[in-house]
Amino acid sequence: MSTEPNLINSNKKPLALFEEWFEEAKKTEINDPNAMNLATISSNGKPSSRIVLLKSFDKNGFIFYSNSNSKKGKAIKENKSVALNFHWKSLQRQIRIEGNVSLISSKQADDYYNTRPLGSRIGAWASLQSEELDDRSTLKKRVNDFEIKFKSKNIPRPSHWNGYIVKPELIEFWQEMPFRLHDRVEYKKVSENWVVRKLFP
Ligand SMILES: Cc1cc2nc3c(=O)[nH]c(=O)nc-3n(C[C@H](O)[C@H](O)[C@H](O)COP(=O)(O)O)c2cc1C
Repeated sequence: MSTEPNLINSNKKPLALFEEWFEEAKKTEINDPNAMNLATISSNGKPSSRIVLLKSFDKNGFIFYSNSNSKKGKAIKENKSVALNFHWKSLQRQIRIEGNVSLISSKQADDYYNTRPLGSRIGAWASLQSEELDDRSTLKKRVNDFEIKFKSKNIPRPSHWNGYIVKPELIEFWQEMPFRLHDRVEYKKVSENWVVRKLFP
C-alpha cells in the first residue's frame, strides 16, 4: 500500500500538512478555497452548520469572523465545542477539525475589520444576522442609515462583530482513492502532543 501515489504524508505535523493542502487548494478551487463548514451545538443539544471563511490560521488555531448575535454566535456562547470541515472538490480532499472556539482579542478583530471594504464594514452594522427580516427594503434602509451616520467618519467595529479562533484537538486529513479505499490520517492532541494514526476509510 505504501507505494500508492497520493498517500497522505503523515510524517508531517498537522499544521504543516494543512498549510500544504491549503496552498494547493488555492491553486485548484474555483471559488473560496478558504470556505469551511462550521458546525455548532445549541444549548438544547441541537447541531447546526453553515459555511464561514477561514481568514487566518497558525499554531494557535483557525480564525473566522461573524456576528456574535447570530444563531452560531448564540450557540458558541453556550457551547464552545465546534467542528470545521473543508471539502476541496478539485483535489478530492477533506479536512475535518474539532476543537474549542473562543473570541480573539478586540485589537486583532479591529485590525482585520479595518482592512475590509467600506461596504462590508457598513454591512456589519446594518445586518442583524439571523434575525427575521420583513422585507429587503428594511435591510437597504439600514445600510443607507449607517452610510449617513458614518459619512466621512471612521467606522468602528461593531461590538457584536467578532473574530473567533478554533483551537484544534483533532484534525483528520482525507484523500480520495480508487474503489473508495480512501486514505485517512487522524491527528489527536494528547497532552500537547499530536498522536497520529490511520483510519479505515
Ligand atoms: C462561501 C460563504 C462564505 C461565508 N462566509 C461567512 C463568514 O465568514 N462569516 C459569517 O458570519 N457568515 C458567512 N457566510 C454566511 C453563513 O453561511 C451563514 O448564512 C450566516 O453566517 C448565518 O449563519 P447562522 O444563522 O447559523 O448564524 C458565508 C456563506 C458562504 C456560502
